[in-house]
Amino acid sequence: MTLKGRSLIEPSDFSLNEIEEILRLADRIIQEPHLYSEVCKGKVLASLFYEPSTRTRFSFDAAMYRLGGQVLGFSDPSTSSTAKGETVADSARTIAQYSDIIAVRHPKEGTALHMSRYADIPVINAGDGGHQHPTQTLTDLLTIHHYYGSFDGLTVGVCGDLKFGRTVHSLITCLSRYSNMRFVFISPEELKIPKYVKEKAEDAGIPYIETTDLESCIGQLDILYMTRVQRERFVSEEEYLRLRDFYILTKEKMERAKEKMIVMHPLPRVNEIAVEVDDDPRAVYFHQVKFGMYVRMALIMKLLGLEAPQGR
Ligand code: CP
Repeated sequence: MTLKGRSLIEPSDFSLNEIEEILRLADRIIQEPHLYSEVCKGKVLASLFYEPSTRTRFSFDAAMYRLGGQVLGFSDPSTSSTAKGETVADSARTIAQYSDIIAVRHPKEGTALHMSRYADIPVINAGDGGHQHPTQTLTDLLTIHHYYGSFDGLTVGVCGDLKFGRTVHSLITCLSRYSNMRFVFISPEELKIPKYVKEKAEDAGIPYIETTDLESCIGQLDILYMTRVQRERFVSEEEYLRLRDFYILTKEKMERAKEKMIVMHPLPRVNEIAVEVDDDPRAVYFHQVKFGMYVRMALIMKLLGLEAPQGR
């Protein structure tokens, strides 16, 4: 089955072969980006952000521009007819008349899926509430592949807000399809990883442990994936303030880590990684950001059924 015309709502929409096809294309774009500068000429991306974003929105826009395409959309839904009460379904039907592909972020879980049922063009979930963020997962996979060359035999620690952190839900769901992995879920009791995500690992026979103590396990990890506490998903501000600084990765804690461990973070960072860690060569989170643009270039090409330039 080809990727052309399909939507990406969660990582399990694509087989591992299809995901690897996207990663391979992203790698080729990284090698020779100039070859792809007109691939999307005449194509339009609708960039619909009902919730704040820096990386996802700008990287989708940059991806489309670097492929020679154009972008329309909004980063503030109050400037659209949403403010007049238009439903997401009607917005999707309408915007699909003007564009070739949609990237949508929305605070409500399931909105991207809902839109994909009404738009007759591919819809990409750019983050739906506390649910999933599949293009962050593609970004994360490309980053891991760059540093480790494969997904085999890795111990991956995810740390912070595992309850509301949609990037973690997508990443663990996806990595559970690789064999020979091991997970360490590091969170406060109140922010433990949801059962449905743990079950993905259990069903795949992937061993995992849950702990509240980062320092005791950091030395076992090949990857430490830090996350921020998701203030916007909390009902109680007091509870957020109590948990906000539960984990702060410092130089001192990094001394316990393996020499080759990498530190990833989907960003934005609030306080969970001290700025002093940024200079550590194992801190790769700003490189990760750039991989996000390349992998979105590859994804847009695949969903639009566009071929790599001749001879590639
Ligand atoms: N990683 C991520 O989704 O960042 P933004 O919220 O800035 O898009």
